[in-house]
Amino acid sequence: MDRYLVIGNPIAQSKSPTIHSLFADQVNQQICYQRLLSNSDTFERDIRTFITSGGKGANITAPFKQQALAICDDVSADAKAAGAVNTLSFVDGKIYGDNTDGRGLVSDLLNHNVTLSGARILVLGAGGACRGVILPLLAHQPECLVIANRTLSKAQQLVEHFANEKLMAIDYNTTRQYQFDLIINATSASLTSSLPAIPCAVVNDSICYDMVYGAEPTAFLSWCTQNGAKQTIDGLGMLVGQAAESFCIWRGVKPNSTPVINKLRREFQGEA
Ligand code: ATR
Repeated sequence: MDRYLVIGNPIAQSKSPTIHSLFADQVNQQICYQRLLSNSDTFERDIRTFITSGGKGANITAPFKQQALAICDDVSADAKAAGAVNTLSFVDGKIYGDNTDGRGLVSDLLNHNVTLSGARILVLGAGGACRGVILPLLAHQPECLVIANRTLSKAQQLVEHFANEKLMAIDYNTTRQYQFDLIINATSASLTSSLPAIPCAVVNDSICYDMVYGAEPTAFLSWCTQNGAKQTIDGLGMLVGQAAESFCIWRGVKPNSTPVINKLRREFQGEA
């Protein structure tokens, strides 16, 4: 049976084994998919040991996405742009890297019938999570893609790096001068239940997306609802969407994310 891994630190919380085994059932394939805890000193050795033992591919999660890029023989345009890899494929002794996070986000937005073409999009945060979604969002021809970050210089660096006329960097306070159709929280603030300090008026009638997910609405999405958001969406669909893209790279068939999202959501609600 073909073997796959998700590798990170911490890793016990990862839903990837559940998601990939549901995908495999859905398309009548048999795979073995496990978790592996690693650390930066052993990461490369762990991957090479897995390849030697016949492993076919691996998902990479925090904090190894940059380190994974460095060990690839070849990488996709998305991985290069993101500066990070979340999917490794091992073929004929070579390591291929891709980054499916941005495609996962876009597919989730489209599944929610969010219009990206011509949309005014605000992304909060300028770390790896933001960087990985810029090209896939731009591919849908938004009117503009504005990056706002607590530390403005990091947003400016990203805009310089991607050099696209639709991109602009602003600080949190300046967001009040614009109206957005879609606001995406790509900061890590929700992981600690804190809020990016944007003015509440910005939220008015926007669709608000948080890349973080959980049994309860994230702090950001609750705050958006209180401030008049048109719709709120958490990152569970992005998680399943990026996994569907990885599965497709490895197995040649793209599974349907919706039943898997629904099952995980029901499990969360049971836990809440
Ligand atoms: P990653 O690469 O995993 O996305 P990161 O590079 O640490 O993580 O970036 C985290 C992002 O969340 C940054 O944009 C960070 O803002 P700064 O660049 O100003 O540090 C943002 N962030 C984290 N906690 C935040 C908070 N409480 N409020 C606002 N932004 C926050």
